[in-house]
Amino acid sequence: MKSSILKNFIVFEGLDGCGKSSQVRLLKEHLERKGKKVEVSCEPTDGPIGKMVRDVLQHKVITTPKALALLYASDREDHLFHEDVGIKDKTANGYIEISDRYFYSSYAYQSVNVDSNYVKEINNFPSPEILIYIDVPVDVCLSRIDKRGGEKELFEKKEFLEKVDLNFKSAIKNVNPETKVLVVNGEQDISKIAKEIAFFVDKIIG
Ligand code: TYD
Repeated sequence: MKSSILKNFIVFEGLDGCGKSSQVRLLKEHLERKGKKVEVSCEPTDGPIGKMVRDVLQHKVITTPKALALLYASDREDHLFHEDVGIKDKTANGYIEISDRYFYSSYAYQSVNVDSNYVKEINNFPSPEILIYIDVPVDVCLSRIDKRGGEKELFEKKEFLEKVDLNFKSAIKNVNPETKVLVVNGEQDISKIAKEIAFFVDKIIG
């Protein structure tokens, strides 16, 4: 199966609590300082399908793992190809698009409870130009989630995240060969991580 690359599309991935959101913001600021037009988005998205996903994560709606996998995939289709806000058009119009999560999250999370071939089949989407994986041990992520407080979401449990962690590691080994991958140690100082990411991205996007 040959899936294409979406130029100027940068994806951040990692476990819940790995520190993605701060790094997404810092990379955006870095690229804007260099005069680039940058848009940031996330999955689940803020659109109607993403909202349904969040309702499941917050235990407001109960459904099956397979239905949830399909919801994540529909949300992704909408994120990419929506006629007004789709990232495919934005990247074609000169924007660098940074997404907090993409199909690697489906490979990692949904494959815990759903057949991994099925998850891959429903996620036949273009690969990003750059994938940045923020690597933080499960225990550290969990203690960060605990410190945030509030209700635990569906996937924020140790045994589950340990499986997700393994799935992520195997997904990273099997990325589209045209995607440039950076695995960064997310236990370092925030500004050190940001520098490493900026250096990597500058080499590719310039
Ligand atoms: P996220 O918004 O990154 O977490 P947070 O609410 O902490 O900011 O993602 C929400 C949850 O959805 C997270 O546990 C990961 C999970 N997820 C999947 O299981 N599959 C997917 O395809 C995506 C995009 C996220």
